Amino acid sequence: MQRKTMDSPLFCVALLLLAAASAVDCCPPSDRAALLAFRASLHEPYLGIFNSWTGTDCCRNWYGVSCDPETRRVADINLRGESEDPIFERAKRTGYMTGTISPAICRLKGLASLTLADWKGITGEIPSCITTIPFLRVFDLIGNRLSGEIPANIGKLHRLTVLNVADNMITGEIPRSLTNLSSLMHLDMRNNRISGPLPRDFGKLRMLSRALLSGNRITGTIPDSVSDIYRLADFDLSFNQLSGPIPLSLGKMAVLATLNLDSNKISGPLPRTLINSAVSNLNLSRNALQGTIPDVFGPRSYFTALDLSYNGLRGPIPRSISSASFIGHMDLSHNHLCGRIPGGAPFDHLEASSFAYNDCLCGKPLRAC
Ligand SMILES: *[C@@H]1O[C@H](CO)[C@@H](O)[C@H](O)[C@H]1NC(C)=O
Ligand SMILES: *[C@@H]1O[C@H](CO)[C@@H](O)[C@H](O)[C@H]1NC(C)=O
Repeated sequence: MQRKTMDSPLFCVALLLLAAASAVDCCPPSDRAALLAFRASLHEPYLGIFNSWTGTDCCRNWYGVSCDPETRRVADINLRGESEDPIFERAKRTGYMTGTISPAICRLKGLASLTLADWKGITGEIPSCITTIPFLRVFDLIGNRLSGEIPANIGKLHRLTVLNVADNMITGEIPRSLTNLSSLMHLDMRNNRISGPLPRDFGKLRMLSRALLSGNRITGTIPDSVSDIYRLADFDLSFNQLSGPIPLSLGKMAVLATLNLDSNKISGPLPRTLINSAVSNLNLSRNALQGTIPDVFGPRSYFTALDLSYNGLRGPIPRSISSASFIGHMDLSHNHLCGRIPGGAPFDHLEASSFAYNDCLCGKPLRAC
């Protein structure tokens, strides 16, 4: 999709000059009408961002609106309630907007991105007709008070690369069709009230690099298919109600760097594969992990954070841990570990709190054995 946000007003002026009859208008009247209907269901009392939405040419100087220079249709709506824009500096505040998202938005068939982010007060549901906007690539509604469910046939938006509905009050399950979003790179649904399981075929989302689903009510087990997503770098499922074991295959993912599964009901052993994986930020705290910490640390073990606290881990802290190449923050507290704490450079700096509340650990930085 060729669109140049900055260039479009200039382009339109040029176009107007070229068309001596000045019959060329950059904004199709139908797009302008859709924008005005969209605006009519929103209320922004403090900044006046919609004051610029006047005149016939919506491609020119309408705050947050830009058009495709070729099709001359509205291509982007970018309205952020937290921004460095001078309009915010003058008002000395962040944005606040109430109202709802009008289905009129779906008449903008050239729309490639819709960002309506961090306005804190927008309520109502996501119009289900958004799945009929054929070229939609970015859909970002973070930081509002939206309720209702994610449209069931969201999977029709096969060009979608960013889906962000974080920090709202969305309910219902993750639609089964979601895994049809074969272009999706960034999925953020954090801090909603989403329930039900992760789709078994989650791994169909081959382009995904970030999947952030923390702070919901997701149940069931972590699908094995996740490990098919070879670009996945950041996977956050913390603060949900997931159960069952951690798939061994997660430790074999090439670029997975952050894995947060903390505050769930995950059980079973701590997979050996995770100790020598690409994962450098691993939080498994507050689950029901059993068994021992695998004695397989080595030069490939590099952790900026390794949090295994509040689980049911038993046995000793493995001696191999001293051969890890780096361990920044480590928390093994609140388990049933026992025995001498090994010495070693990677975690010489750790404090007693990292080892507290175990059954019988001893040695520096705890009491002598
Ligand atoms: C996913 O896409 C395929 C192929 O277009 C279609 O047959 C299937 O019904 C879609 N699945 C869902 C759950 O929408
Ligand atoms: C891990 O998650 C818990 C909450 O589940 C949090 O309290 C803790 O700070 C996290 N650990 C790290 C290292 O971020």
